[in-house]
Amino acid sequence: MRLIIAKDYNEMSKIAADEMAKSIKSNPEIVLGLATGGTPVGMYKELIKMYENGELDFSKVKSVNLDEYVGLSGEHNQSYRYFMNKNLFNHINIDKNNTFVPNGLSEDVEKEGKIYDEKIKELGGIDVQLLGLGNNGHIGFNEPNDELTVGTHLTNLKQDTIEANARFFSSIDEVPKKAITMGLGGIMKAKEIIVIASGKGKADIVSKLMNGKITTDIPASMLQMHNNVIVIVDEDAAKLVNK
Ligand code: PGA
Repeated sequence: MRLIIAKDYNEMSKIAADEMAKSIKSNPEIVLGLATGGTPVGMYKELIKMYENGELDFSKVKSVNLDEYVGLSGEHNQSYRYFMNKNLFNHINIDKNNTFVPNGLSEDVEKEGKIYDEKIKELGGIDVQLLGLGNNGHIGFNEPNDELTVGTHLTNLKQDTIEANARFFSSIDEVPKKAITMGLGGIMKAKEIIVIASGKGKADIVSKLMNGKITTDIPASMLQMHNNVIVIVDEDAAKLVNK
């Protein structure tokens, strides 16, 4: 894994956006794996700026998101479909028909997972997968567990994830307890992976990602087995890493 340490959140966002922009320019029909959460917002703003400057064209880009809350429609302002439209898709020239987010309202989530994995295959697989890092080591909504799942699946959110995400809702009771997420197989099949993290709160998990043992208790530790991962963090998030 290649570690890049940025000065602060803004520089982390810029470096990550530049990395993604380079891939989009070299393959205008790229399939991007995208993530939600607080961390990627700055990077998406940088990509929007590049689009507005005429530097980037998203007309042929396709995207696949990692996860969605079960029970929220794409119109719900805390759904990840809504997040992607608001923070990126509404501001660039991507064709929304080429953007995929799991359907949180699916009646048969198991079937939805299979359809989603088929879709990714049909697109030719993910070229560049963006990942945030949960404080507990989750990637997508693959939570720490005795075992991890390969394909897109239904998952129960851990209490620490529900607490971390409560900041986006008016009360913790409103945070969905279940989600549908791409599995570790889907993530690990991406040709390149970009992990971003910022702030002191992520220092412990970043050090476990970089230097810790591979364990299902820290799903992100699996990334050590992928041969093309760039980890872009700010100084605060890097402070416990053995460099
Ligand atoms: P955050 O979430 O970017 O809001 O810190 C990361 C994650 O849970 O994957």
